[in-house]
Amino acid sequence: MKLFDDYTKQFDFSNEKIELKYHHSYRVQKLCEMIAKNLKMNERDLYLASITGLFHDIARFRQITEYHTFLDSQSFDHGDVGADIFNNEIANQLDLSEEERIIIYKAIKYHNKLAIGNDVNDRELIFCQIVRDADKVDILYLFATNASLPGKTDGEVNSDCHRIFMNKQSISHEYVTNGTEKNVAALASLWDINFPISKQVIKEKKYFQQIEKMLNHEIYNKYFKLIYEDLEVE
Ligand SMILES: [Fe+2]
Repeated sequence: MKLFDDYTKQFDFSNEKIELKYHHSYRVQKLCEMIAKNLKMNERDLYLASITGLFHDIARFRQITEYHTFLDSQSFDHGDVGADIFNNEIANQLDLSEEERIIIYKAIKYHNKLAIGNDVNDRELIFCQIVRDADKVDILYLFATNASLPGKTDGEVNSDCHRIFMNKQSISHEYVTNGTEKNVAALASLWDINFPISKQVIKEKKYFQQIEKMLNHEIYNKYFKLIYEDLEVE
């Protein structure tokens, strides 16, 4: 999309992190469209879901350029800043109603939060859920294909991370203290998947089987067991 390409071309594409986020954005856009189609959304809503996917990580380009990190804790909240960039620099170039602009704003804002905020209505919620699913599916893809590893296996999993995972809940960053736990937290993204179609993609593409092979450590066995039970795969 020209608008996205025009915005991102101000950044340095010789930086592989910029390149990575550029392609991640387009894959998440496609995943959003696939989920929206599966939900039988109308053409306009499909378009809104598509735009949300493409622009969800728009703040990553500024983040990596200015702070040289993807860690929000060491820079800024890329959901909040992304929502503002969308509002201030992108939305006026799209033919959106006020309601549509707010839908996309909130979906970008909440895509990276542990939970979606409680100021969303039912309609806004669906778009938040779509982009969160699409983002997680693609992050698992990047993990599975070795393009982006959360952490190195460098220690035990603390009791908080273990308990939260086994309760099938998302693990907040505050509980993560080492590389092993970073990986467990990434695996736990499955517990926050909203739509059956997203799980179906994860299952069909065998992302977790690839990740298990790559991690290649028995410390993760119990986590994969629960994942495979949930996905009903061997
Ligand atoms: Fe993101």
